[in-house]
Amino acid sequence: MLDLLITNAALPDGRTGMSVAVQAGRISEIAPQLEAPARETVDAGGYLLSPPLCDPHFHMDATLSYGLPRVNESGTLLEGIALWGELKPLLKAEDLIQRALAYCDWAVARGLLAIRSHVDTSDPSLLPVEAMLEVKKRVAPYLDLQLVAFPQDGLLRTPGGIDNMKRALDLGVDVVGGIPHFERTMADGATSVKLLCEAAARRDKLVDMHCDESDDPLSRHIETLAFETQRLGLQGRVNGSHCTSMHSMDNYYVSKLLPLIAESGVSVVANPLINITLQGRHDTYPKRRGMTRVPELMAAGVTVAFGHDCVLDPWYGMGSADMLEVAHMGLHVAQMTSQAGIRACFDAVTGNAAKVMHLEGYGLEPGCDASFVLLQARDVVEAIRLRAHRLKVWRKGVVVAETPEVVAKVTLPDRPAAVRFLR
Ligand code: FE2
Repeated sequence: MLDLLITNAALPDGRTGMSVAVQAGRISEIAPQLEAPARETVDAGGYLLSPPLCDPHFHMDATLSYGLPRVNESGTLLEGIALWGELKPLLKAEDLIQRALAYCDWAVARGLLAIRSHVDTSDPSLLPVEAMLEVKKRVAPYLDLQLVAFPQDGLLRTPGGIDNMKRALDLGVDVVGGIPHFERTMADGATSVKLLCEAAARRDKLVDMHCDESDDPLSRHIETLAFETQRLGLQGRVNGSHCTSMHSMDNYYVSKLLPLIAESGVSVVANPLINITLQGRHDTYPKRRGMTRVPELMAAGVTVAFGHDCVLDPWYGMGSADMLEVAHMGLHVAQMTSQAGIRACFDAVTGNAAKVMHLEGYGLEPGCDASFVLLQARDVVEAIRLRAHRLKVWRKGVVVAETPEVVAKVTLPDRPAAVRFLR
């Protein structure tokens, strides 16, 4: 007897009328029109059943703090960093924990079951680190929270920055972070990349750096990151986040850079909502979009994923844990409007994001975790177009969130009353 049988589902690869059998929290079989006794059977009604959404780049320690102690008036990255600096001395662990738990509730309701969060290690108290480790423990039954030790104020620029990083990793933070473009000089930035990659290699940790989050076309720390990755044999274990300077780089240099990134196995996470709002702020007109070269990186064979980065924090006053909104913005900013392009944007918030995070048991294959989101859409293109409602969310075979099917009622004569926005 199966624990769960989901029938009549559309899958992200385009198959329709599929059944998914679940036993002991894992997928046991996927086949068309499967008939088998099960404790529970769910008719997916032809809607899309996807592996959960994943966010490979977030700041859980800052989320839901919008307006504390004031709002970012200029909207720039640098005012955001300054504002976060004003807020930090006022932070209390319990407040951080409660805000993060509230955000994780939003995430689960949105079918977002894996988040990689950077955590600020700049303050020697490591209060945000301890708070987020507590959150990670509490949400573990329903959400994979991965933590990155992130020296927000600069590894070398902050007194004690290296020691704080070491202590954060000793406490159990999963991934080594960095912010080379925020160090005092290009040379210090490159040194920080080298030191951090060496620390990761020594400790057998993954690396995920904020890298070149700048409109400066000469910010080339991604080159150093790719070099150190190869030198230290870290291929497949390193991610460059943002890489916005690549938007503004010289095209000839990029033609050399893209194969170097691909060869090093470094993945890239773009953050479309944040890049389009924070970058280009010093421009008059034309204003640069600032997002990294997503389709070109993908064409070069680089794994590219999209992150949310911020929700209601010193850098961004919008957002609701909706990775389909992220994919929607990503396809607009990158002009990935072909069917293949839209599907690639869906991958950027599902499979590619899971790959960046090294998630185990992720996917729609027998043996994978029975973690799914059932979307009120019939394929991935429609899911992004509608930022589709998440009808049911399962974590390892157990329902963790539900939203009723949404049907708008139109009161016009001689027209159908029910509107679902489907073709
Ligand atoms: Fe970030």
